[in-house]
Amino acid sequence: MSSSRVTHRRAFRRTDDFTPGTSKLKLVTEPLPLPLSPTAVLLKIHAVALNYRDANIANGQNPWPVMPNGILCNDAAGEVIAVGNKVKTLVVGDRAAPITDTENISGRETRRSWLAADEDGVMADHIAFEERVLCKLPEYLDWLDAAMIPCAGVTAWSALKGVSIGQTVLIQGTGGVSVFALKLARAAGIRAILTSSSDEKLCQMKMKYSSPPILTVNYSQTPKWDQEVLKLTDGVGVDIVVENGGTGSLVKSLRCTRRGGTVSQVGYLSKQDPSDLKELIPTLIDRRINLRGINAGSKHDMEDFCAALSASGMLLHDLIDRVFPFEQAEDAVEYVWQGKQIGKIVLRL
Ligand SMILES: NC(=O)c1ccc[n+]([C@@H]2O[C@H](COP(=O)([O-])OP(=O)(O)OC[C@H]3O[C@@H](n4cnc5c(N)ncnc54)[C@H](OP(=O)(O)O)[C@@H]3O)[C@@H](O)[C@H]2O)c1
Repeated sequence: MSSSRVTHRRAFRRTDDFTPGTSKLKLVTEPLPLPLSPTAVLLKIHAVALNYRDANIANGQNPWPVMPNGILCNDAAGEVIAVGNKVKTLVVGDRAAPITDTENISGRETRRSWLAADEDGVMADHIAFEERVLCKLPEYLDWLDAAMIPCAGVTAWSALKGVSIGQTVLIQGTGGVSVFALKLARAAGIRAILTSSSDEKLCQMKMKYSSPPILTVNYSQTPKWDQEVLKLTDGVGVDIVVENGGTGSLVKSLRCTRRGGTVSQVGYLSKQDPSDLKELIPTLIDRRINLRGINAGSKHDMEDFCAALSASGMLLHDLIDRVFPFEQAEDAVEYVWQGKQIGKIVLRL
């Protein structure tokens, strides 16, 4: 084994105390799983990016079960500092990150194990994972940018799969996955319609993407935003939707997707109420929509995405709303929970 002298790590573990105003995280120092197994890799983490899911889990509202007092986060970027003696694809000094669902290598595996839910996540200064769940990160990106790739980036990449140049995508909200999807869509020559509850946020995005201009709809002020999207597409509908609301918006998303188009179900940000779905089946059949569930992506998806990023040299820094020091993780989670951000919140270590 190529080794490092690090024996312990600092990690934020959830308190699982959901009383308003109490700490949701506790900084702990704990031993690393040493010696490394022959196929394990030790990473020194340089940046961790937050997703809505982390704030949701920290506040006890994840729709899926989570392990008690687990470590949050599935977006990080780290440097390999030690490898087991059977590791073949990574060496000390490489940049890497684990995939979000460590059972999803090719996309055909039967099981699931989500970081920060079924197993510990990555909000720590060191993490050890099996080589098979780690993916190399593009070398041209800095740590903060690279940390957004495994979950937010791969999710946006998966949600847009199949859309081609000249087509139109509807992207809901101005959170992390959405701004990533918007950036990828723009780079790929795809027309974007962006929604937000805030005119101020839409104005900022319009200024950022002024040529060609993005189309926008305020979904709070326009409750029938699906009709507005139809108007913007000459009554045809968009080719694909990055669906973030869940039950509260799904039927409307189907209604403003063209016949035979695709809705990528990514999020569940609205109050999840099955009674909102009464029109789901008739609308799905009538409009011949492909409704596709997105679970971040497989390791192969992440590798494809990293290859695409490296080929384009796309910089990602403009997707970051705010950087917090690692020690202020609690404040960062609260910031995301309050939905103050446009784009990504990243912790620097
Ligand atoms: N399936 C997956 O693999 C996967 C991966 C990552 C994330 N997700 C899920 O995708 C969603 C977005 O995640 P994120 O990390 O990008 O979140 P985020 O950064 O916290 O962004 C949330 C933003 O979404 C918008 N929003 C809130 N409620 C909405 C609603 N009812 N309809 C449409 N937009 C709404 C708001 O934007 P405005 O302020 O502009 O209105 C809000 O700021 C979450 O539900 C998350 O759990 C799923």
